[in-house]
Amino acid sequence: MSTLGTPLGPNATRVMLLGSGELGKEVTIELQRLGVETIAVDRYDHAPAQQVAHHTRTITMSDPAALRALIEAEKPMLVVPEIEAIATAELENLEAEGLVRVIPTARAARLTMDREGIRRLAAETLSLPTSPYRFCNSLEELQAAIDGTDGQAAIGYPCVVKPVMSSSGKGQSKIDSAADVAKAWDYAMAGGRVAHGRIIVEGFIDFDYEITQLTVRAKNSDGAIETQFCAPIGHIQQSGDYVESWQPHPMTATAQNEAQRIAKAVTDNLGGQGLFGVELFVKGDQVWFSEVSPRPHDTGMVTMTTQWQSEFELHARAILGLPINTALKSPGASAVIYGGVDAKDIVFEGVEQALAVPQTSVRLFGKPESFVKRRMGVALAWDADVDIARDRAKQAASLVKPKAL
Ligand SMILES: Nc1ncnc2c1ncn2[C@@H]1O[C@H](COP(=O)(O)OP(=O)(O)OP(=O)(O)O)[C@@H](O)[C@H]1O
Ligand SMILES: [Mg+2]
Repeated sequence: MSTLGTPLGPNATRVMLLGSGELGKEVTIELQRLGVETIAVDRYDHAPAQQVAHHTRTITMSDPAALRALIEAEKPMLVVPEIEAIATAELENLEAEGLVRVIPTARAARLTMDREGIRRLAAETLSLPTSPYRFCNSLEELQAAIDGTDGQAAIGYPCVVKPVMSSSGKGQSKIDSAADVAKAWDYAMAGGRVAHGRIIVEGFIDFDYEITQLTVRAKNSDGAIETQFCAPIGHIQQSGDYVESWQPHPMTATAQNEAQRIAKAVTDNLGGQGLFGVELFVKGDQVWFSEVSPRPHDTGMVTMTTQWQSEFELHARAILGLPINTALKSPGASAVIYGGVDAKDIVFEGVEQALAVPQTSVRLFGKPESFVKRRMGVALAWDADVDIARDRAKQAASLVKPKAL
């Protein structure tokens, strides 16, 4: 895009977000700062990004006809998927018809919405190291994959079962012995995003730590797409959901090179422009690819305090064809603020105390409804010492007390 327009006028640069959660909210704010006209779409009203966008639309984004009708009516220049659960095949059609450009590409959105698409690409097409895995359609197939009685190498115990379509750890469980298999299968069937009796079973990787390698494909001064990396982000997951992250995470030079090699191979293949969150497991110098988001990553919220340009600003710039800078500003950390209650219109006590913790900030996402395990906000802290930053972020997060009135 060689020029940027004036919002709400005939020359506006119009960008549509499909998904309007907390990550989309920050992307929208960054686009607003550049005078981009934003249309925030979600399945419910008053979603976080809708509260800061020029226009809001509420539709079922997994419905191809509804999605096509919306895009044809609004004619955005760019469509920016923020979640996985959208009609990505229809996005591919719309992109192929030249009606819209999807970020980073419609193919990337399709391949990453389904664990099978991205895993087969990484392991089978690109020959990148991953956990051993198998896709199964029944409890019997799952047991056979674990035992190796299906004619392939046994996955063995421990292993991890996940619905092929799910995120944030939903339907995911670890199997330690034969006694857990049926339970894991039933849990996966209940936790998948769409009725889809298919799972992936992965051998359990006994990693030392896991990181998110934020990777940006953006135009350089010659107009060519160049890949740039952010410093590695360490994180802790509980029940498949991120609770804490920090940047930078120390790595050996060998592991860091391998992480960047893997991240570049995957993002080169997915193509387009934008920021990606490449999830990797690390043990010593060994690195395994786990999965990738073709968009800002939840663990990357820490970059709002650690980088000169947060992952959201990097994404906004990259998709608009603008220069980027991935440099670290200060080490820092993030800690999630969960709802803790099932209620609408909750209030947050203790924000004053949280913000009195030195070198911290808090983001409250403004979600209209809280659930016990819903992410409602995040606390951020910076310090030259990443451990101090982690303590402060956790302290600040724990001081914020969501309450139902
Ligand atoms: N094969 C594995 N071996 C060891 N740990 C694993 C394995 N697969 C997943 N995990 C753990 O579970 C976490 C969540 O897994 P994964 O990223 O596949 O699920 P997800 O539902 O896509 O989560 P999210 O959407 O939050 O990224 C991982 O970050 C890791 O901590
Ligand atoms: Mg993940």
